[in-house]
Amino acid sequence: MARLKTAVLISGRGSNLQALLDAAGRTDYPAEVVLVISNLADAYGLERARLAGVATCVIDHKAFPDRAAFDAAVDAELRRSGAELICLAGFMRLLGPAFANAWRDRLINIHPSLLPSFKGLHTHRRALEAGVKLHGCTVHFVTAELDDGPIIIQGAVPVVDGDDEDRLAARVLEVEHRIYPLAVRLIAEGRVEVNGQLVRVRGPSDPGRTLVNPA
Ligand code: GRF
Repeated sequence: MARLKTAVLISGRGSNLQALLDAAGRTDYPAEVVLVISNLADAYGLERARLAGVATCVIDHKAFPDRAAFDAAVDAELRRSGAELICLAGFMRLLGPAFANAWRDRLINIHPSLLPSFKGLHTHRRALEAGVKLHGCTVHFVTAELDDGPIIIQGAVPVVDGDDEDRLAARVLEVEHRIYPLAVRLIAEGRVEVNGQLVRVRGPSDPGRTLVNPA
């Protein structure tokens, strides 16, 4: 079986990249990681990629006159790699509309909130300030609008007494590491259909399960 070729774009520690590398390390997983690109040379995720034997590439955004030129350089590397799906995993640069349109339905991101709540940065702090009882993470297709594309999968966690930003972030991160490889699997298996802003995922899901907090 041909595995779906994915590339992962990072800027930092790369724990979600690690989850994808670990999944791809299993022979029955339907996707492989062919390239990791970072805009920062000291991103720890690059080390993770090297340890997994995956090709890496640093494209320093500061070396380009504008966003479009940077995006074009990223695009060229991705095309050279033969990547069929691009996963943003803590990639801290906005990609412009031309890039988003060129990779439409083949470009996904993981965001640490239950979208459409808490788009943008500092999601855990803002969730605590808002007093929500459930929080979580979302894998979605990327469009030209920030954190706004069609939602593929979400994972929820309770917000509990005594939580601070770090504790809540750690609880969410564990779920990120489960749902990102799962989202890539669903796409690789051809089970994800995009229709405008809506995604339909074919296969079993369980409407009977609820998460109530406080229980
Ligand atoms: C994660 O919380 C992810 O949801 C967000 O950036 C963070 C990246 O963490 N987009 P890591 O680099 O994958 O550890």
